[in-house]
Amino acid sequence: MGIFTKKPIGQLINDSSDGEKSLKRTLGAGNLVALGIGAIIGAGLFVRTAAAAANNAGPSVTIGFIVAAIGCAFAGLCYAEFASMIPIAGSAYTYSYATMGELIAWIIGWDLVLEYAVGAATVGIAWSEYLNKLLEIFGWHIPYEWSHSPFEVCDGSGAFATQAGVHGIMNVPALFIILMLTMLLIKGTKESAFVNGLIVISKVAIVVLFIVLGWGYMNPENHAKYIPEVTKYVDTQGVSHNYGGIWGILGAAGVVFFAFIGFDAVSTAAQEAKNPKKDMPIGILGSLVVCTILYILFAHVLTGVANVNDFRTQGKEASVVYAIKTYMAGYGWLANLVTVAILFGFSSVILVMLMGQSRVFYSMSRDGLVPKIFSDLHPKFHTPYKSNWIFFVLVGAFAAFVPGDIVGDMTSIGTLFAFILVCAGVWILRRTDPDLPRQFKVPMVPVVSILGIAVCTAMILGLGWTNWARLGGWLVLGLLIYFGYSKKNSKLK
Ligand code: ALA
Repeated sequence: MGIFTKKPIGQLINDSSDGEKSLKRTLGAGNLVALGIGAIIGAGLFVRTAAAAANNAGPSVTIGFIVAAIGCAFAGLCYAEFASMIPIAGSAYTYSYATMGELIAWIIGWDLVLEYAVGAATVGIAWSEYLNKLLEIFGWHIPYEWSHSPFEVCDGSGAFATQAGVHGIMNVPALFIILMLTMLLIKGTKESAFVNGLIVISKVAIVVLFIVLGWGYMNPENHAKYIPEVTKYVDTQGVSHNYGGIWGILGAAGVVFFAFIGFDAVSTAAQEAKNPKKDMPIGILGSLVVCTILYILFAHVLTGVANVNDFRTQGKEASVVYAIKTYMAGYGWLANLVTVAILFGFSSVILVMLMGQSRVFYSMSRDGLVPKIFSDLHPKFHTPYKSNWIFFVLVGAFAAFVPGDIVGDMTSIGTLFAFILVCAGVWILRRTDPDLPRQFKVPMVPVVSILGIAVCTAMILGLGWTNWARLGGWLVLGLLIYFGYSKKNSKLK
Protein backbone atom coordinates (compact mmCIF):
# COMPACT_ATOMS: atom_id res chain seq x y z
CA MET A 1 0.00 0.00 0.00
CA GLY A 2 1.51 3.29 -0.99
CA ILE A 3 0.84 6.81 -2.05
CA PHE A 4 -1.34 5.64 -4.94
CA THR A 5 -3.66 3.56 -2.77
CA LYS A 6 -7.27 4.29 -3.59
CA LYS A 7 -10.09 4.08 -1.13
CA PRO A 8 -12.80 1.71 -2.43
CA ILE A 9 -16.04 3.59 -3.09
CA GLY A 10 -18.11 0.96 -1.24
CA GLN A 11 -15.96 1.49 1.84
CA LEU A 12 -16.31 5.25 1.58
CA ILE A 13 -20.08 4.92 1.65
CA ASN A 14 -20.00 2.42 4.53
CA ASP A 15 -17.71 4.64 6.56
CA SER A 16 -20.12 7.48 6.14
CA SER A 17 -22.99 5.61 7.74
CA ASP A 18 -21.38 4.00 10.74
CA GLY A 19 -23.75 4.71 13.58
CA GLU A 20 -23.21 7.31 16.23
CA LYS A 21 -20.24 8.95 14.64
CA SER A 22 -22.07 10.03 11.49
CA LEU A 23 -23.53 13.48 10.85
CA LYS A 24 -27.31 14.08 10.86
CA ARG A 25 -29.19 14.04 7.49
CA THR A 26 -31.37 17.14 7.57
CA LEU A 27 -30.91 19.03 4.26
CA GLY A 28 -33.20 18.84 1.17
CA ALA A 29 -32.63 20.13 -2.42
CA GLY A 30 -34.00 23.57 -1.57
CA ASN A 31 -31.70 23.81 1.45
CA LEU A 32 -28.78 22.87 -0.74
CA VAL A 33 -29.46 25.50 -3.42
CA ALA A 34 -29.85 28.02 -0.59
CA LEU A 35 -26.65 26.75 0.99
CA GLY A 36 -24.95 27.18 -2.41
CA ILE A 37 -26.21 30.73 -2.99
CA GLY A 38 -25.43 31.51 0.64
CA ALA A 39 -21.87 30.42 0.03
CA ILE A 40 -21.54 31.99 -3.40
CA ILE A 41 -22.72 35.62 -3.31
CA GLY A 42 -20.34 37.54 -1.09
CA ALA A 43 -17.03 39.33 -1.06
CA GLY A 44 -16.23 38.16 -4.58
CA LEU A 45 -19.07 40.23 -5.94
CA PHE A 46 -19.13 43.14 -3.51
CA VAL A 47 -15.36 43.63 -3.09
CA ARG A 48 -13.31 41.68 -5.64
CA THR A 49 -15.30 42.94 -8.67
CA ALA A 50 -14.07 46.48 -8.09
CA ALA A 51 -10.52 45.24 -7.40
CA ALA A 52 -10.50 43.31 -10.68
CA ALA A 53 -11.84 46.35 -12.57
CA ALA A 54 -9.23 48.61 -10.95
CA ASN A 55 -6.21 46.34 -11.29
CA ASN A 56 -6.91 44.17 -14.31
CA ALA A 57 -9.73 44.74 -16.70
CA GLY A 58 -11.80 47.92 -16.24
CA PRO A 59 -15.38 47.31 -17.46
CA SER A 60 -14.32 44.09 -19.20
CA VAL A 61 -14.38 42.50 -15.74
CA THR A 62 -17.80 41.32 -16.99
CA ILE A 63 -16.00 39.21 -19.60
CA GLY A 64 -13.80 37.95 -16.75
CA PHE A 65 -17.01 36.83 -15.01
CA ILE A 66 -18.04 34.95 -18.13
CA VAL A 67 -14.66 33.17 -18.36
CA ALA A 68 -14.83 32.27 -14.67
CA ALA A 69 -18.41 31.03 -15.03
CA ILE A 70 -17.45 28.81 -17.96
CA GLY A 71 -14.62 27.27 -15.94
CA CYS A 72 -16.98 26.76 -13.00
CA ALA A 73 -19.69 25.22 -15.17
CA PHE A 74 -17.32 22.56 -16.49
CA ALA A 75 -15.89 21.89 -13.05
CA GLY A 76 -19.40 22.08 -11.55
CA LEU A 77 -20.61 19.30 -13.83
CA CYS A 78 -17.68 17.16 -12.74
CA TYR A 79 -18.40 17.94 -9.09
CA ALA A 80 -22.03 16.99 -9.63
CA GLU A 81 -21.11 13.62 -11.13
CA PHE A 82 -18.82 12.86 -8.21
CA ALA A 83 -21.30 14.12 -5.65
CA SER A 84 -24.08 11.94 -7.07
CA MET A 85 -21.80 8.91 -7.10
CA ILE A 86 -20.00 9.35 -3.79
CA PRO A 87 -22.61 11.07 -1.64
CA ILE A 88 -20.56 11.60 1.49
CA ALA A 89 -18.82 14.43 3.26
CA GLY A 90 -15.49 15.78 2.17
CA SER A 91 -15.93 17.23 -1.30
CA ALA A 92 -13.11 17.04 -3.80
CA TYR A 93 -10.92 15.38 -1.19
CA THR A 94 -13.16 12.34 -0.92
CA TYR A 95 -13.65 12.08 -4.67
CA SER A 96 -9.96 12.10 -5.35
CA TYR A 97 -9.28 9.49 -2.66
CA ALA A 98 -11.49 7.10 -4.59
CA THR A 99 -10.08 7.94 -7.99
CA MET A 100 -6.54 9.15 -7.90
CA GLY A 101 -5.13 7.70 -4.71
CA GLU A 102 -4.01 8.91 -1.33
CA LEU A 103 -1.30 11.39 -2.25
CA ILE A 104 -3.45 13.34 -4.69
CA ALA A 105 -6.31 13.18 -2.17
CA TRP A 106 -4.01 14.65 0.45
CA ILE A 107 -2.90 17.39 -1.92
CA ILE A 108 -6.50 18.30 -2.64
CA GLY A 109 -7.53 18.18 1.02
CA TRP A 110 -4.60 20.42 1.89
CA ASP A 111 -5.35 22.69 -1.03
CA LEU A 112 -8.97 23.01 0.09
CA VAL A 113 -7.69 24.75 3.23
CA LEU A 114 -6.87 27.62 0.86
CA GLU A 115 -10.37 27.54 -0.53
CA TYR A 116 -12.31 27.30 2.70
CA ALA A 117 -10.15 28.59 5.55
CA VAL A 118 -8.26 31.30 3.67
CA GLY A 119 -11.48 32.08 1.76
CA ALA A 120 -13.31 32.63 5.06
CA ALA A 121 -10.54 35.01 6.11
CA THR A 122 -10.93 36.96 2.85
CA VAL A 123 -14.63 37.44 3.41
CA GLY A 124 -13.97 38.38 7.04
CA ILE A 125 -11.69 41.18 5.81
CA ALA A 126 -14.36 42.35 3.36
CA TRP A 127 -16.87 42.31 6.24
CA SER A 128 -14.60 44.66 8.12
CA GLU A 129 -14.65 47.17 5.21
CA TYR A 130 -18.43 47.26 5.13
CA LEU A 131 -18.65 47.46 8.91
CA ASN A 132 -16.80 50.75 8.68
CA LYS A 133 -19.42 51.92 6.14
CA LEU A 134 -22.15 51.02 8.61
CA LEU A 135 -20.45 52.94 11.40
CA GLU A 136 -20.04 55.93 9.07
CA ILE A 137 -23.82 56.27 9.06
CA PHE A 138 -23.55 57.09 12.77
CA GLY A 139 -20.49 59.27 12.29
CA TRP A 140 -18.02 56.74 13.70
CA HIS A 141 -15.27 54.60 12.24
CA ILE A 142 -12.77 52.07 13.46
CA PRO A 143 -9.27 53.58 13.16
CA TYR A 144 -7.23 52.44 10.16
CA GLU A 145 -4.68 50.71 12.40
CA TRP A 146 -7.33 48.47 13.95
CA SER A 147 -9.18 47.58 10.76
CA HIS A 148 -6.22 46.71 8.49
CA SER A 149 -3.31 44.27 8.41
CA PRO A 150 0.28 45.32 9.17
CA PHE A 151 1.07 45.04 5.45
CA GLU A 152 -1.24 47.89 4.47
CA VAL A 153 -0.55 51.61 4.52
CA CYS A 154 -3.26 54.24 4.36
CA ASP A 155 -3.02 56.24 1.12
CA GLY A 156 -5.16 59.06 2.44
CA SER A 157 -8.31 58.18 0.50
CA GLY A 158 -11.80 57.32 1.66
CA ALA A 159 -12.90 57.41 5.27
CA PHE A 160 -9.30 57.58 6.45
CA ALA A 161 -8.40 60.81 4.69
CA THR A 162 -6.75 62.35 7.72
CA GLN A 163 -4.40 59.47 8.32
CA ALA A 164 -2.27 59.09 5.19
CA GLY A 165 0.89 57.09 5.88
CA VAL A 166 -0.53 55.22 8.86
CA HIS A 167 0.19 51.45 8.94
CA GLY A 168 -2.36 48.82 9.83
CA ILE A 169 -1.75 46.78 13.01
CA MET A 170 -4.52 44.23 13.20
CA ASN A 171 -7.91 43.76 11.56
CA VAL A 172 -10.02 43.48 14.70
CA PRO A 173 -13.51 43.42 13.09
CA ALA A 174 -12.45 40.60 10.76
CA LEU A 175 -11.24 38.57 13.72
CA PHE A 176 -14.44 39.34 15.63
CA ILE A 177 -16.80 38.06 12.92
CA ILE A 178 -14.80 34.85 12.52
CA LEU A 179 -15.12 34.25 16.26
CA MET A 180 -18.89 34.84 16.30
CA LEU A 181 -19.50 32.49 13.40
CA THR A 182 -17.25 29.79 14.77
CA MET A 183 -19.42 29.79 17.88
CA LEU A 184 -22.63 29.66 15.83
CA LEU A 185 -21.28 26.80 13.75
CA ILE A 186 -20.45 24.76 16.81
CA LYS A 187 -24.11 24.94 17.80
CA GLY A 188 -25.09 22.94 14.71
CA THR A 189 -25.85 22.77 10.98
CA LYS A 190 -29.65 22.85 11.12
CA GLU A 191 -29.88 26.13 12.95
CA SER A 192 -27.15 27.52 10.73
CA ALA A 193 -29.03 26.47 7.57
CA PHE A 194 -32.18 28.25 8.78
CA VAL A 195 -30.37 31.52 9.47
CA ASN A 196 -28.66 31.08 6.13
CA GLY A 197 -32.03 30.84 4.32
CA LEU A 198 -33.09 34.27 5.59
CA ILE A 199 -29.79 35.81 4.59
CA VAL A 200 -29.86 34.34 1.09
CA ILE A 201 -33.17 36.08 0.38
CA SER A 202 -31.88 39.50 1.47
CA LYS A 203 -28.63 39.03 -0.42
CA VAL A 204 -30.32 38.22 -3.70
CA ALA A 205 -32.76 41.08 -3.13
CA ILE A 206 -30.04 43.74 -2.83
CA VAL A 207 -28.19 42.44 -5.87
CA VAL A 208 -31.38 42.69 -7.94
CA LEU A 209 -32.20 46.13 -6.48
CA PHE A 210 -28.77 47.48 -7.34
CA ILE A 211 -29.02 46.17 -10.91
CA VAL A 212 -32.51 47.58 -11.47
CA LEU A 213 -32.02 50.96 -9.76
CA GLY A 214 -28.42 51.46 -10.89
CA TRP A 215 -29.18 50.72 -14.55
CA GLY A 216 -30.43 54.26 -15.18
CA TYR A 217 -27.34 55.79 -13.52
CA MET A 218 -24.79 54.18 -15.81
CA ASN A 219 -22.53 56.71 -17.50
CA PRO A 220 -21.81 55.57 -21.11
CA GLU A 221 -18.35 57.20 -20.85
CA ASN A 222 -17.36 54.65 -18.22
CA HIS A 223 -18.04 51.88 -20.72
CA ALA A 224 -16.51 53.69 -23.73
CA LYS A 225 -13.28 51.65 -23.63
CA TYR A 226 -14.89 48.37 -22.63
CA ILE A 227 -11.64 46.43 -23.03
CA PRO A 228 -8.86 48.86 -22.00
CA GLU A 229 -5.54 49.05 -23.82
CA VAL A 230 -2.70 46.95 -22.43
CA THR A 231 -0.65 48.79 -19.77
CA LYS A 232 0.96 48.14 -16.40
CA TYR A 233 -0.87 49.50 -13.41
CA VAL A 234 1.00 49.98 -10.12
CA ASP A 235 -1.47 50.22 -7.24
CA THR A 236 -1.23 52.43 -4.17
CA GLN A 237 0.53 49.65 -2.21
CA GLY A 238 3.22 49.47 -4.93
CA VAL A 239 2.06 46.17 -6.50
CA SER A 240 2.24 45.98 -10.30
CA HIS A 241 -0.66 44.46 -12.33
CA ASN A 242 -1.21 43.55 -16.00
CA TYR A 243 -4.01 45.88 -16.98
CA GLY A 244 -6.13 45.68 -20.14
CA GLY A 245 -6.29 43.31 -23.08
CA ILE A 246 -6.68 39.57 -22.91
CA TRP A 247 -4.30 39.10 -19.95
CA GLY A 248 -6.22 41.74 -18.06
CA ILE A 249 -9.40 39.77 -18.67
CA LEU A 250 -7.81 36.49 -17.62
CA GLY A 251 -6.35 38.15 -14.52
CA ALA A 252 -9.78 39.59 -13.71
CA ALA A 253 -11.32 36.15 -14.28
CA GLY A 254 -8.90 34.67 -11.75
CA VAL A 255 -9.73 37.41 -9.24
CA VAL A 256 -13.53 37.31 -9.62
CA PHE A 257 -13.44 33.54 -9.75
CA PHE A 258 -13.54 34.05 -6.01
CA ALA A 259 -17.16 35.12 -6.42
CA PHE A 260 -18.11 31.65 -7.64
CA ILE A 261 -16.32 29.74 -4.95
CA GLY A 262 -18.76 28.00 -2.74
CA PHE A 263 -21.04 26.16 -5.11
CA ASP A 264 -18.79 23.18 -4.53
CA ALA A 265 -19.20 23.68 -0.77
CA VAL A 266 -22.62 22.15 -1.35
CA SER A 267 -20.84 18.90 -2.08
CA THR A 268 -19.17 18.96 1.33
CA ALA A 269 -22.64 18.72 2.87
CA ALA A 270 -23.52 15.54 0.99
CA GLN A 271 -23.44 13.53 4.18
CA GLU A 272 -26.09 15.79 5.65
CA ALA A 273 -28.36 15.68 2.55
CA LYS A 274 -31.59 13.69 2.74
CA ASN A 275 -31.41 12.42 -0.85
CA PRO A 276 -27.88 13.17 -2.00
CA LYS A 277 -28.00 11.38 -5.35
CA LYS A 278 -30.76 13.57 -6.71
CA ASP A 279 -30.27 16.71 -4.66
CA MET A 280 -26.54 17.27 -5.03
CA PRO A 281 -26.50 17.99 -8.80
CA ILE A 282 -29.53 20.27 -8.38
CA GLY A 283 -27.87 22.09 -5.49
CA ILE A 284 -24.55 22.58 -7.25
CA LEU A 285 -25.66 23.52 -10.75
CA GLY A 286 -28.80 25.40 -9.67
CA SER A 287 -26.91 27.79 -7.46
CA LEU A 288 -24.22 28.30 -10.12
CA VAL A 289 -26.73 29.30 -12.83
CA VAL A 290 -28.59 31.80 -10.65
CA CYS A 291 -25.40 33.50 -9.54
CA THR A 292 -23.79 33.73 -12.97
CA ILE A 293 -26.70 35.72 -14.41
CA LEU A 294 -26.76 38.08 -11.44
CA TYR A 295 -22.98 38.64 -11.47
CA ILE A 296 -22.67 39.67 -15.10
CA LEU A 297 -25.50 42.18 -14.78
CA PHE A 298 -24.17 43.48 -11.47
CA ALA A 299 -20.62 44.01 -12.73
CA HIS A 300 -21.92 45.77 -15.84
CA VAL A 301 -23.94 48.20 -13.74
CA LEU A 302 -21.20 48.76 -11.14
CA THR A 303 -18.54 49.62 -13.74
CA GLY A 304 -21.08 51.82 -15.51
CA VAL A 305 -22.08 53.78 -12.41
CA ALA A 306 -18.55 54.40 -11.05
CA ASN A 307 -15.27 54.51 -12.99
CA VAL A 308 -11.96 52.69 -12.72
CA ASN A 309 -10.27 55.63 -11.07
CA ASP A 310 -12.85 55.53 -8.27
CA PHE A 311 -12.08 51.86 -7.68
CA ARG A 312 -8.39 52.75 -7.41
CA THR A 313 -8.88 55.53 -4.86
CA GLN A 314 -11.84 56.47 -2.64
CA GLY A 315 -14.03 53.65 -3.90
CA LYS A 316 -11.41 50.98 -3.31
CA GLU A 317 -13.01 49.72 -0.13
CA ALA A 318 -16.74 48.94 0.13
CA SER A 319 -17.01 49.95 -3.53
CA VAL A 320 -20.70 49.24 -4.04
CA VAL A 321 -21.78 51.56 -1.25
CA TYR A 322 -19.30 54.16 -2.50
CA ALA A 323 -20.77 54.00 -6.03
CA ILE A 324 -24.33 54.41 -4.77
CA LYS A 325 -23.52 57.29 -2.42
CA THR A 326 -21.42 59.14 -4.97
CA TYR A 327 -23.37 58.70 -8.19
CA MET A 328 -26.94 57.74 -7.32
CA ALA A 329 -28.36 60.86 -5.70
CA GLY A 330 -31.36 60.19 -3.48
CA TYR A 331 -30.47 56.55 -2.91
CA GLY A 332 -28.79 56.93 0.48
CA TRP A 333 -31.35 54.46 1.85
CA LEU A 334 -30.20 51.88 -0.72
CA ALA A 335 -26.59 52.35 0.35
CA ASN A 336 -27.54 51.73 3.96
CA LEU A 337 -29.71 48.75 3.10
CA VAL A 338 -26.93 47.27 0.99
CA THR A 339 -24.44 47.75 3.83
CA VAL A 340 -26.60 45.92 6.33
CA ALA A 341 -27.53 43.13 3.92
CA ILE A 342 -23.89 42.71 2.93
CA LEU A 343 -22.81 42.38 6.55
CA PHE A 344 -25.32 39.57 7.06
CA GLY A 345 -24.61 38.16 3.61
CA PHE A 346 -20.88 37.93 4.19
CA SER A 347 -21.59 36.20 7.48
CA SER A 348 -23.44 33.42 5.70
CA VAL A 349 -20.53 32.95 3.29
CA ILE A 350 -18.05 32.71 6.14
CA LEU A 351 -20.31 30.24 7.90
CA VAL A 352 -20.52 27.89 4.91
CA MET A 353 -16.79 28.13 4.31
CA LEU A 354 -15.94 27.36 7.92
CA MET A 355 -18.37 24.48 7.77
CA GLY A 356 -16.83 23.17 4.54
CA GLN A 357 -13.39 23.37 6.10
CA SER A 358 -14.29 21.41 9.20
CA ARG A 359 -16.10 18.79 7.09
CA VAL A 360 -13.09 18.20 4.84
CA PHE A 361 -10.81 17.77 7.83
CA TYR A 362 -13.47 15.58 9.48
CA SER A 363 -13.19 13.18 6.54
CA MET A 364 -9.41 13.37 6.44
CA SER A 365 -9.25 12.73 10.15
CA ARG A 366 -11.43 9.65 9.91
CA ASP A 367 -9.05 8.39 7.22
CA GLY A 368 -6.13 8.98 9.59
CA LEU A 369 -4.50 11.61 7.37
CA VAL A 370 -4.86 14.32 10.00
CA PRO A 371 -5.08 13.77 13.79
CA LYS A 372 -8.22 12.38 15.42
CA ILE A 373 -8.97 15.68 17.12
CA PHE A 374 -10.44 16.95 13.83
CA SER A 375 -13.23 14.35 13.93
CA ASP A 376 -14.14 14.48 17.62
CA LEU A 377 -17.82 15.41 17.76
CA HIS A 378 -19.44 17.55 20.44
CA PRO A 379 -21.44 15.28 22.80
CA LYS A 380 -24.56 17.44 22.53
CA PHE A 381 -24.36 19.34 19.22
CA HIS A 382 -22.73 16.56 17.13
CA THR A 383 -20.45 19.07 15.43
CA PRO A 384 -16.65 18.76 15.10
CA TYR A 385 -16.16 21.51 17.67
CA LYS A 386 -12.47 20.98 18.38
CA SER A 387 -11.74 21.28 14.69
CA ASN A 388 -13.85 24.46 14.57
CA TRP A 389 -11.72 26.00 17.33
CA ILE A 390 -8.44 25.02 15.70
CA PHE A 391 -9.55 26.60 12.43
CA PHE A 392 -10.70 29.68 14.27
CA VAL A 393 -7.06 30.25 15.24
CA LEU A 394 -5.80 29.76 11.67
CA VAL A 395 -8.55 31.70 9.88
CA GLY A 396 -8.46 34.42 12.52
CA ALA A 397 -4.71 34.88 12.04
CA PHE A 398 -5.11 35.29 8.27
CA ALA A 399 -8.05 37.66 8.72
CA ALA A 400 -6.28 39.82 11.28
CA PHE A 401 -2.80 40.01 9.76
CA VAL A 402 -2.89 39.52 5.97
CA PRO A 403 -4.30 41.96 3.33
CA GLY A 404 -7.55 41.04 1.56
CA ASP A 405 -6.01 41.09 -1.95
CA ILE A 406 -3.44 38.47 -0.99
CA VAL A 407 -5.77 36.05 0.79
CA GLY A 408 -8.39 36.57 -1.95
CA ASP A 409 -6.03 35.57 -4.74
CA MET A 410 -4.61 32.68 -2.69
CA THR A 411 -8.15 31.40 -2.30
CA SER A 412 -8.80 31.68 -6.03
CA ILE A 413 -5.63 29.93 -7.08
CA GLY A 414 -6.00 27.13 -4.54
CA THR A 415 -9.56 26.46 -5.61
CA LEU A 416 -8.71 26.57 -9.32
CA PHE A 417 -6.07 23.95 -8.69
CA ALA A 418 -8.59 21.73 -6.88
CA PHE A 419 -11.05 22.17 -9.75
CA ILE A 420 -8.44 21.00 -12.23
CA LEU A 421 -7.87 17.84 -10.24
CA VAL A 422 -11.62 17.20 -9.99
CA CYS A 423 -12.06 17.60 -13.77
CA ALA A 424 -9.22 15.11 -14.27
CA GLY A 425 -10.72 12.78 -11.66
CA VAL A 426 -14.04 12.36 -13.48
CA TRP A 427 -12.23 11.49 -16.67
CA ILE A 428 -9.94 9.00 -14.92
CA LEU A 429 -12.81 7.28 -13.14
CA ARG A 430 -14.78 6.89 -16.38
CA ARG A 431 -11.83 4.90 -17.73
CA THR A 432 -10.91 2.91 -14.62
CA ASP A 433 -14.47 2.19 -13.36
CA PRO A 434 -16.85 2.72 -16.28
CA ASP A 435 -19.59 0.55 -14.75
CA LEU A 436 -19.96 2.27 -11.38
CA PRO A 437 -23.53 3.56 -11.01
CA ARG A 438 -23.71 7.30 -11.64
CA GLN A 439 -26.99 9.08 -10.94
CA PHE A 440 -25.73 12.08 -12.85
CA LYS A 441 -23.33 11.78 -15.79
CA VAL A 442 -21.31 14.63 -17.26
CA PRO A 443 -22.03 14.81 -20.99
CA MET A 444 -19.17 14.47 -23.48
CA VAL A 445 -16.34 13.25 -21.26
CA PRO A 446 -13.43 13.83 -21.81
CA VAL A 447 -14.25 17.03 -23.75
CA VAL A 448 -15.83 18.68 -20.71
CA SER A 449 -12.95 17.61 -18.44
CA ILE A 450 -10.36 18.93 -20.88
CA LEU A 451 -12.16 22.24 -21.34
CA GLY A 452 -12.55 22.59 -17.56
CA ILE A 453 -8.84 21.99 -17.08
CA ALA A 454 -7.97 24.44 -19.87
CA VAL A 455 -10.14 27.31 -18.64
CA CYS A 456 -9.04 26.91 -15.00
CA THR A 457 -5.38 26.76 -16.06
CA ALA A 458 -5.82 29.97 -18.08
CA MET A 459 -7.15 31.72 -14.97
CA ILE A 460 -4.22 30.43 -12.91
CA LEU A 461 -1.86 31.87 -15.53
CA GLY A 462 -3.75 35.18 -15.37
CA LEU A 463 -3.17 35.41 -11.61
CA GLY A 464 0.58 35.91 -12.07
CA TRP A 465 3.77 34.54 -10.60
CA THR A 466 3.44 35.80 -7.02
CA ASN A 467 0.32 33.71 -6.66
CA TRP A 468 1.93 30.70 -8.34
CA ALA A 469 4.76 30.98 -5.81
CA ARG A 470 2.33 31.14 -2.87
CA LEU A 471 0.46 28.08 -4.15
CA GLY A 472 3.76 26.25 -4.67
CA GLY A 473 4.92 27.10 -1.13
CA TRP A 474 1.64 25.92 0.35
CA LEU A 475 1.80 22.61 -1.54
CA VAL A 476 5.42 21.97 -0.47
CA LEU A 477 4.40 22.50 3.17
CA GLY A 478 1.55 20.04 2.61
CA LEU A 479 3.87 17.40 1.16
CA LEU A 480 6.18 17.69 4.16
CA ILE A 481 3.22 16.99 6.45
CA TYR A 482 2.02 14.12 4.28
CA PHE A 483 5.35 12.31 4.29
CA GLY A 484 6.07 13.23 7.91
CA TYR A 485 2.68 12.27 9.41
CA SER A 486 -0.22 11.30 7.17
CA LYS A 487 1.37 8.49 5.18
CA LYS A 488 2.30 6.64 8.40
CA ASN A 489 -1.06 7.17 10.06
CA SER A 490 -3.33 6.43 7.10
CA LYS A 491 -6.11 4.01 8.10
CA LEU A 492 -6.10 2.38 4.66
CA LYS A 493 -2.70 0.97 5.49
N1 ALA B 1 -18.05 33.21 -3.42
C1 ALA B 1 -17.85 33.69 -2.14
C2 ALA B 1 -17.74 35.17 -2.10
O1 ALA B 1 -17.87 35.81 -3.09
C3 ALA B 1 -16.67 33.07 -1.54
O2 ALA B 1 -17.55 35.73 -1.06
